[in-house]
Formats: sequence, C-alpha cells, structure tokens
Amino acid sequence: MTETKPLLAALKGTKLPSPPIWLMRQAGRYLPEYREIRERQKGFMDLVMTPDLAAEVTLQPVRRFGMDAAIVFSDILVVPHALGQAVNFVEGEGPKLNPLRSGEDLNRLSQHNFAALLAPVMETLRLTQAGLAKEGFDKTALIGFSGAPWTLACYMIEGGSSKEFNNAKFWAYSDPAGFGDLIDILTQAVTDYCRMQIDAGAEVIQLFDSWAGVLDHTLFARWVIRPTRLIVEALKDSHPHIPVIGFPRGAGRMALDYVQNTQIGALSIDPQTAPKWAATVFQPLVPVQGNLDPACLLAGGLAMEAAAEDILVHLSKGAFVFNLGHGVIKETPPEHVEELVGLVRAWRS
Ligand code: CP3
Repeated sequence: MTETKPLLAALKGTKLPSPPIWLMRQAGRYLPEYREIRERQKGFMDLVMTPDLAAEVTLQPVRRFGMDAAIVFSDILVVPHALGQAVNFVEGEGPKLNPLRSGEDLNRLSQHNFAALLAPVMETLRLTQAGLAKEGFDKTALIGFSGAPWTLACYMIEGGSSKEFNNAKFWAYSDPAGFGDLIDILTQAVTDYCRMQIDAGAEVIQLFDSWAGVLDHTLFARWVIRPTRLIVEALKDSHPHIPVIGFPRGAGRMALDYVQNTQIGALSIDPQTAPKWAATVFQPLVPVQGNLDPACLLAGGLAMEAAAEDILVHLSKGAFVFNLGHGVIKETPPEHVEELVGLVRAWRS
C-alpha cells in the first residue's frame, strides 16, 4: 500500500480490514462545540466565509471522533453566490435565492468575481491542512466538495428547497436549449471550483447530486451523467491523482449508468440502496461509500448496530468507505456517532 491515509487507499481500490469512516455533515448543529461558534456569527454564510472559524469547525469532528476525513466546512450554494446570485440562509427556513426562470435571467450571472468570492473557502482549506498537521492528524484526508450542476440548478431555479423541484424540471423539459446554457455555465464553474480546492489542499473531491433522483432516465443521462462526466474528465486532465466521489442521491438503478458513463472514481450510495446489491453491482467497478440511514444513527442502539453490521458484512469485502446515506440529522446525540465510529474501527474482515 503506497497510500498512508486509509481514505485515499480505499478510494484507490484497496480493500482494508477495517474500513475508513467519515460522515456527510459531520460538522454541524448536533455538536455543542459547533453551536457555540455558530452562535457568535450573524448568519450561516458569515461562518462559511470566515476561514479561521470555518477551519475550526471542520476540525471539530476529527478531534472528537478521529474521523478518517475532514470535509471543508462550506456549502454547495457558495457556487451560485460566486456567480452573483444572492444566497441567504434564513433561520429555520433554509436557503433563499432570487430564482432564475428563463434564459434571460442567465444574464444576471457573472463569472467576474468568481475566484475572489470563493477565496475564503480556499483559505479554509489551507488553514485546515495546517491544523491537521499541527494537531498530528497525519492519516486524515481533506475532502473538498461541490454541488453537481443539476442539483445547483435545482436551487438556483427554485429559489430554495423543495420536495420535487418542479420549476427546475419544467425548464429542463420545456426549454432544453436555455436550460442547457445554465448547465454549461455550472459545469465550467464546478470544474474551476474543484480545481481551486485541489490547489488549496483538497485531496479528494465529492460531487453532491442530491436531487439526481427526481429526473426520468432520459433527463438523468442529459443533466446528471453528461455534466458529471465532463467535470470528471477535466479534473482527470488537470489533477489525475485526485479521486472524485459521486453522490447521485435517489438514482436507484440509474446509478449503474452513472458509474459506467461518468468515469467517477467512487460511488456514494443512499440508504435506499441495499448493501448486498451494491456489493454485487457497483463494487466490481468502483469503491463504494455509504450508506447508514441518518435516522438510524439518530435512533442509535441495537437498530444502529444491526444496520451498520449489515453494511459492513456486505461491503467491507471490497474497496469501501463507511459513511451515512445522507447528512447527519441535527438532533443526533454525539454519543451515537462515537459508538458508530468505535464499531467500524473494531470491525475486521
Ligand atoms: O460537514 C459537512 O458535510 C460539510 C459541510 C456541508 C454543509 N452543507 C454545511 C451546512 C456540506 C457538505 C453541505 C452540502 C449541502 N448543502 C448539500 C448537499 C448534501 C445534501 O444535504 O443533500 C445541500 C443540498 C446543501 C444546501 C443546504 N445547506 C440546505 C438545503 C440547507 C438548509 C437545511 C439545513 O440542514 O439547515 C443548508 C444549510 C447548511 N449547510 C447547514 C450546514 C451545517 C445548517 C445551517 C446552520 O448550521 O446554520
């Protein structure tokens, strides 16, 4: 094994006796030390754009649980923000954006300040790498991330969260050319953003396509697979050694088309994907990451132990990264996370 960091080894296809573990949204409101820092900021975006505090928050779950990865504390919506679309996080209501609904609205976007507006995230990455080194976490890998174009388009068109993103789907069906212009802008922006993060110290990239599952198979190929492939290919050209994890949440069986046609380096699976099926269908092709239900982590106890074991039994026979199937729920007791990490660390296969 040439990789000394377990996460990087697993993502390069090495099967480890005890798999690496990190959790999506491992930094956040379920941690008292996060709430303490968050309370001192006016808004969530202020925290994201204050590098020393964002780096501190990134390190918190690594210190507390000894995770195999730190994921830079930021949000997928920094990309629309950097393209000039106002993004606000309203307490208790989630994100609010001034929605884009037509080709004409695309004129409101601009690449002009893109790098400058994202500079604080790069500083967070550099400070986090320095913090990991200083605190002796030499086996912890640093993950950078981006929303994938389709999921970013969902929020930019809808203007916030939604169950179905019907406005985004409406535009995609009724005006594929205009919608394609938005996806092209985002494909370039995401590529640039990922490259900047790698240059600032990210050792892995994860692409969150949280709303991949709302599309039919034709639109999935066009607006999820194609842009993801373009991003992955561009990153392979510029940074061939950086693994890219794809998370096409809710894709079900379309996730196989995704793996076969995007060249993605690893697949993050949601809780609806049976570990045994994933081991048979995906693991011969790529390392798999996942997929404990965040609600099961919230519940803890025997239910959590049984579900974690089911995942470990089936997936730890191949290249595997233990994770949740979606982000940590804010009511989760930190003790449950501690127990889960202990259980995965004790596993041998
Ligand atoms: O620890 C980590 O995983 C890194 C930080 C991270 C955040 N958001 C911080 C955050 C990551 C990787 C994300 C990704 C993200 N953001 C996604 C993709 C993953 C997913 O959940 O499907 C999406 C869709 C978003 C957009 C977003 N950000 C929404 C819809 C919300 C509001 C809902 C909520 O949970 O509050 C956010 C806010 C947000 N992003 C918070 C955090 C810690 C909570 C805000 C706060 O602490 O005040």
